[in-house]
Amino acid sequence: MRVLVTGGAGYIGSVIVEELLRAGHEATVYDSLARGHIDAVHPAAKLICGMVQDRALLAQQLRERSIEAVIHMAAFIEVGESVSRPELYFQNNVVGSLEVIRAMIDAGVKNLVFSSTAALYGDPERVPIQEDDVTAPTNPYGESKLIVERMLRWIAPAHGLTVTALRYFNAAGATAMNGEAHTPETHLIPNVLRAALTGAPLYLFGTDYPTKDGTCVRDYIHVLDLAQAHLLALGRTDAGLQIYNVGNGEGFTVREVMETAQRVTGRTLNIVTEPRRAGDQIATVASAAKIRRDLGWQPQHAGLDAIIGSAWAWQQAHPAGYQR
Ligand SMILES: NC(=O)c1ccc[n+]([C@@H]2O[C@H](COP(=O)([O-])OP(=O)(O)OC[C@H]3O[C@@H](n4cnc5c(N)ncnc54)[C@H](O)[C@@H]3O)[C@@H](O)[C@H]2O)c1
Repeated sequence: MRVLVTGGAGYIGSVIVEELLRAGHEATVYDSLARGHIDAVHPAAKLICGMVQDRALLAQQLRERSIEAVIHMAAFIEVGESVSRPELYFQNNVVGSLEVIRAMIDAGVKNLVFSSTAALYGDPERVPIQEDDVTAPTNPYGESKLIVERMLRWIAPAHGLTVTALRYFNAAGATAMNGEAHTPETHLIPNVLRAALTGAPLYLFGTDYPTKDGTCVRDYIHVLDLAQAHLLALGRTDAGLQIYNVGNGEGFTVREVMETAQRVTGRTLNIVTEPRRAGDQIATVASAAKIRRDLGWQPQHAGLDAIIGSAWAWQQAHPAGYQR
């Protein structure tokens, strides 16, 4: 299949491109490089440098390259930044997504996989969270993804599109080629490993949450397992929107992640506790029963040790992240 991946120069997109190519698909990366890396783009993939808001360029690429499916990952992803600059998130994530959808309609491309997020559940009423549970985002980042899902619910049937929204829980881990290198990095595992590598202080935000050790709980999913969910979603043919959680169904507290990282790396962390951070959810753990049942998804790298171990190997091989 000929697949265009918006945001394919980013963390998760670069691994999805690796896996698309490994499975024999053709991959085109469409990325502004605002927050991605040229060096994360697989040499066998074509890179188009552009904003998703540039509908004319995007539609032209979809037509010229006879694209059959789009994986739309391009977005801004920082919860804290979304709280201080919500307009940026609605412009980039909502307006940007609408332009991707309109370019697909213009070019007659029918298959879309959309990167959604567990952040749209807010503080859930129960865990594990199921897809039809209440959505009540606690930050504009989650709200921006929920708005796109709501648009897609109407647009998909109106235009006969096959749309799969994958609500990722916390992507983590690395391949030999690609790992997590956001600037600034606000995600826990890369920050823990950087602190392990450099000895720098490691900030733990919030120790008074109603959880077993007072720190937030998250469900970590290996980026390779997440990539497989996209490949399976590309095989859907029925028109309309389907929404799937993608997570392992097991929650770990921030302190548990830090303890595992100390064990895996053999380093002692210099942990500094701080007050809660704006917009953080207390606990998110997925029920992935629906994607297992409908698409036959089976995570292959589920253990926290394996996830942190792969990220540690990448971090050690790339102590300065990507060069470009
Ligand atoms: N990392 C996670 O744990 C996680 C969890 C849930 C959902 N997601 C979603 O997965 C997707 C990818 O996340 P990531 O961690 O790889 O992020 P990332 O920042 O590493 O990658 C995003 C990429 O999108 C590009 N981009 C952003 N805005 C663009 C625009 N307007 N036009 C063109 N390119 C643009 C950036 O340059 C970057 O390369 C995002 O949609 C994010 O919301 C990520």
